[in-house]
Amino acid sequence: MIFAEPRLCGVSVETGMLENGDGHYRKTYRDLAGLYADAAAFDAIVSEKGDQVAYEVTSYTPGKKTSDMIMGVTRMEPGRVGREYYLTRGHIHANGDRPEVYYTLSGRGIMQMESPDGEVRLVEMGPQQICYVPPFWIHRSVNIGDTDLVMFFSYPADSGQDYGIIERSGGMRVRVMDDGKGGWVAEDNPAWKNRAPDEVKAILENAGVAA
Ligand SMILES: [Fe+2]
Repeated sequence: MIFAEPRLCGVSVETGMLENGDGHYRKTYRDLAGLYADAAAFDAIVSEKGDQVAYEVTSYTPGKKTSDMIMGVTRMEPGRVGREYYLTRGHIHANGDRPEVYYTLSGRGIMQMESPDGEVRLVEMGPQQICYVPPFWIHRSVNIGDTDLVMFFSYPADSGQDYGIIERSGGMRVRVMDDGKGGWVAEDNPAWKNRAPDEVKAILENAGVAA
């Protein structure tokens, strides 16, 4: 048995990055086409700053097994597309029964979650608050503040991500919008279609859980 080596990583709240990690990806505004309700407002943002970073993720992946844990930091810019707050693409774990934790380091955000059968949970988070995202919940984060939203996260290394589940349903069930009074409001997404019972069953059965 060769025992894995420990790893010490720094977290810079200021830059929103994990230090001494081994992974880094960036999403530009242009990469987020199709996510937002207001297409004209999105086009205006892309023409102004399409190649700038909308959010980025730095991470450390020690291995690929269930018992390994990926950890990292995500940093998202503040702002809105029309009335809709900036958000991450969102996903369900490809191995659906894998959970995740998100720990807010700075900024204000919402962990937007949707169960395979269409239940919605919106958990508002501020600094030093942790959200446990249970198995099987589709999740994305939304920046409802006026500063970067910086969060630490960790999840089993074989979780995988299915980003298409949101697209196949016409987006998530609600959109987090500016309420015009300095806060936010969840509004129904009229394009949303619930997943068919067979799709829900397949998600559960893929994880070895009886539907
Ligand atoms: Fe995840």
